[in-house]
Amino acid sequence: MRRLLKNIALRITVFGATGQAGRCITRFLLNDPSCEVTGCSRSDTRLRQLTSSLAGSPGSLQTRVVDVASEAHVLEAMSSADVVVGATSQSADGPVLADLAVRCGTSYLGIHLSSETKWAKLRSMQEACVEKGVMVVDDAGAHPGLPAAMVRYAAMDGPLRSAWVGGKFALPWNDLDVTPATIADFVAEIESMQPAVFKNGKKVRGYRHARAFDFEIGRGAETCTPMFLEEIGELARSGTVASTGFFIGGFGRLVDYGIFPLSMGLVKLNRRWASQVMWWGLRRLASEAPYGVLILDAERASDGSPVRIRVSHADPYVLTAAPAVATIRQMLSHPKPGVWTQAGFVEPQSFFESLQGWGIKVDA
Ligand SMILES: NC(=O)c1ccc[n+]([C@@H]2O[C@H](COP(=O)([O-])OP(=O)(O)OC[C@H]3O[C@@H](n4cnc5c(N)ncnc54)[C@H](OP(=O)(O)O)[C@@H]3O)[C@@H](O)[C@H]2O)c1
Repeated sequence: MRRLLKNIALRITVFGATGQAGRCITRFLLNDPSCEVTGCSRSDTRLRQLTSSLAGSPGSLQTRVVDVASEAHVLEAMSSADVVVGATSQSADGPVLADLAVRCGTSYLGIHLSSETKWAKLRSMQEACVEKGVMVVDDAGAHPGLPAAMVRYAAMDGPLRSAWVGGKFALPWNDLDVTPATIADFVAEIESMQPAVFKNGKKVRGYRHARAFDFEIGRGAETCTPMFLEEIGELARSGTVASTGFFIGGFGRLVDYGIFPLSMGLVKLNRRWASQVMWWGLRRLASEAPYGVLILDAERASDGSPVRIRVSHADPYVLTAAPAVATIRQMLSHPKPGVWTQAGFVEPQSFFESLQGWGIKVDA
């Protein structure tokens, strides 16, 4: 890292630092002794717990009680940061934090879920980013975040005819203290999910484009649902690969065919009920030992030979946090002002090497 080389402290403000993903990102950042993290959330109690759980880390941690709704407090918390991280519950916070960061002349990285609304707002910041020499990198983490990076990694060895990525994630929902707002955001994500992929450069929609992946978890091939991600759109638009898509594995028949449709039906009547049903279903019917796996199944353009990459870790939150921190490292070492998806921003070779350094398995 440039700052590390100059022996200067690196200052990072993390909004949502007490959350499942934010805690993990903060922990990884604090492995660097030159890193000064300011962890923010609304609860002083949870911030104290964070401080005691990370005591003894090589880097230094300060905390601040900040509600993202308070612009003045947010600006204060990010004013001296080199990079601001958005890991709060609501995706709507992403563009708000990114805009304030750019106004402060600071770069931003967000891990919120991918949506057209979010990207329309972020893309409008391109000119301001270039003018101020800062970066807005969003759709960071595992999904979004890794699928198109895996495709770009595979394409380094030669052009691809097709590239399909599947992701499967399991969590012990029963033991998690995910906030109700995060579950509400998850419901909103399912509601706005576009079942779209690209075939020969054309965007095609519909659940009939579902694809089976063998995640090598002892269950054989599983049918996964197409899920449009901004980074997949970028791959097709840039001509990296003409036929490509991301597909998400399910949570089991009861949740996929019972809880999800019920929650989607309720969402029109009452969003809170829809979130409660979703949360109940995940805890009661989908709780299992954690893991996260992504599989790339691709074909070489030259001769149609298969290319397969498997990226996995026993903890899905490590699979989220490590890519985010690896991206922050690249933002600092090789700044490229502008608005980016994580998968489009990173240099794939060193990115996947960094992930392996954090214990993520990358089988290529
Ligand atoms: N890209 C990926 O791979 C990936 C993977 C996992 C999660 N995510 C996304 O990352 C986000 C966080 O997920 P999570 O599972 O870590 O959620 P979580 O455990 O519920 O944590 C949410 C965090 O945000 C804070 N927060 C919520 N509202 C806030 C506000 N108004 N002001 C300040 N802080 C606020 C919470 O603390 P207080 O409530 O105390 O304020 C908490 O620290 C979600 O949007 C999720 O969809 C992305």
